[in-house]
Amino acid sequence: MSTIILAIESSCDETSASVCVDRKILSNFIANQTVHEKYGGVVPELASRAHMQNIVPVVDAALKNANVELQNIDAIAFTQAPGLIGSLLVGVQFAKSLALSLNKPLIAVHHMQAHVLANLIDTNQPSFPFLCLTVSGGHTQIVLAKSPLDLTVIGQTIDDAAGEAFDKSAKLLGLPYPGGPLIDKYAKEGNPLAFKFAEPQIAELDFSFSGLKTSVLYFLQKQPEGFIEANINDLCASIQYTIINILLKKLKKAVQLTGVKNVCIAGGVSANSGLRNSLMAMGEKHNWKVYIPKFEYCTDNAAMIAITAFYKYQNKDFCELSVNPSARASW
Ligand code: KG4
Ligand code: ZN
Repeated sequence: MSTIILAIESSCDETSASVCVDRKILSNFIANQTVHEKYGGVVPELASRAHMQNIVPVVDAALKNANVELQNIDAIAFTQAPGLIGSLLVGVQFAKSLALSLNKPLIAVHHMQAHVLANLIDTNQPSFPFLCLTVSGGHTQIVLAKSPLDLTVIGQTIDDAAGEAFDKSAKLLGLPYPGGPLIDKYAKEGNPLAFKFAEPQIAELDFSFSGLKTSVLYFLQKQPEGFIEANINDLCASIQYTIINILLKKLKKAVQLTGVKNVCIAGGVSANSGLRNSLMAMGEKHNWKVYIPKFEYCTDNAAMIAITAFYKYQNKDFCELSVNPSARASW
């Protein structure tokens, strides 16, 4: 018998709901919050208020797009951690209320595990074991996946995330938030070797990105007026090149250390076209099998929560109605 799951994601500034039947995603509805743009970053209080406004219409749309009635749902899944506590709370409370009123099991999902498992949504799936470079606005990790629910972080950032490196550098260039996609856009027309920014020397498989932002800041402070406008493409290309280099050097090291050559990518930064192209080229060069999720499953979305919940459902890994969200949670 097939299993229908309704999943909710509300960890940061996207309100999303998805319905899956077994491993097949029937709908994945995402409401972006534009209210943060003028503040240059996500404002937690505004994010939770926007989630409260969005959650009912978003869940409705996901059910309608999937052509599924609420009473036919077998389980309700939600993002429990990590994220902004007020944002998480909206999704958690909504999921709990639904589970209580429908008398259905509740499944708590870890947002970062879900980013990794986004790679299992489509038919072109990696086989186990695989490595996943998860790069988002809040996290940068290399994960070793031995099975859907056996995931181990083998490397991570010691300070800023890769997405923060994109967004903070973009801010220094006067670009609006979130700057990652804009750097990607301008970089396409620029020379990645035009300017050189410092790369950190960090042990093993860990990353550091806080130095890059300082390096960009000091470089820009020495430049004459109008420099940024005149060189925006080259600046974006060079910053993007540095971030990609830092990421892929560590990924290469992880392949060498583990011997695992199935390589995936996940998280919002995996939407970056330069990173996607460089990873594919690297895969071809070193004989890796490279997997990249569809764009809509890279940034925050509930489909990745749904697929993770499907595996948890099979394991009967349900949680109590007394469950609480957690801003920071290890796996
Ligand atoms: O996974 P995600 O949607 O949310 C978090 O869980 O953080 O990732 C958001 C991050 C932001 O830092 C955003 O600038 C970055 O992903 N991002 C990109 C691109 N698209 C989104 N960074 C570089 N290039 C892109 N095309
Ligand atoms: Zn995310």
